[in-house]
Amino acid sequence: MTDYPTHSQTESTNPTISTMLAHRSIRKFKPGTIPQNNIQTAMRAGQAAATSSAVQPYCIIHVTDSANRQAIADLAGPQQMVHDCGAFFVICADLRKHMLIVEAAGESYSTGLEAFVVGTVDASLFAQNFTLALESLGYGTCYIGGIRNDLPQVNEILNLPTGVLPLYGLCAGVPDESPSHRPRLEPDAMLFENAYPSDEVTMSAIKQYDEVYKQYLTDRGAKPSTWSEAICKKFSYATRVGLAAFYRSKGASLD
Ligand SMILES: Cc1cc2nc3c(=O)[nH]c(=O)nc-3n(C[C@H](O)[C@H](O)[C@H](O)COP(=O)(O)O)c2cc1C
Repeated sequence: MTDYPTHSQTESTNPTISTMLAHRSIRKFKPGTIPQNNIQTAMRAGQAAATSSAVQPYCIIHVTDSANRQAIADLAGPQQMVHDCGAFFVICADLRKHMLIVEAAGESYSTGLEAFVVGTVDASLFAQNFTLALESLGYGTCYIGGIRNDLPQVNEILNLPTGVLPLYGLCAGVPDESPSHRPRLEPDAMLFENAYPSDEVTMSAIKQYDEVYKQYLTDRGAKPSTWSEAICKKFSYATRVGLAAFYRSKGASLD
């Protein structure tokens, strides 16, 4: 089976970069949990990520209850790995601690969309550092956007208070599969000097990538499709349309 290098042999490397380049989502895990000390290490690494003005607007729920894990696995697809992996987390934007501080000071918590954007951005910076730390310790990982199929139910299962906004899940554990790396667009198709390129340049890079992507799926035994075909399918209708209403109901302002 072909593997798809994501960097040229002439580029410089080091152990950190090697860990990053080794990433591929793992969806099959060996039995067993992740020891608490490794989770703590990953937490420290995750929290070391930059955070806007040090506001740290995120939290992570480690879901250890088996029945709750199964309920989330079911609503997320079903995606059984949510239940079967070594550890499952829900990454949340956490505006609640700010609400508590402001209210304790006798003020009223009042923000706009900016607080929501900062919450999702900083939570994701944390999550990727956390994930990379777990991968550097030898664990496999897979983010789970599928929890957004039914956030009200996730909210109920996890009993989340106002201000805590679940964003996505994360499966982690000892890998029980070794999939090939999913190819990415060439760096030149995403790194621009001073200005965004013409649409012709963009479409030409996409055309080139389409063939690489189709070959990757063919080699993987999946239904062959170009990246453009996959994108068309994904972005020609709205999905998960209740998100704004849900996040507003949890105290986020999207205005
Ligand atoms: C926020 C986010 C949510 C995702 N949700 C899912 C998911 O619900 N199920 C799944 O199998 N993969 C999920 N993925 C994994 C992506 O499909 C995967 O990262 C992408 O296809 C690239 O493949 P790679 O991670 O193996 O390089 C998600 C990834 C991200 C970043």
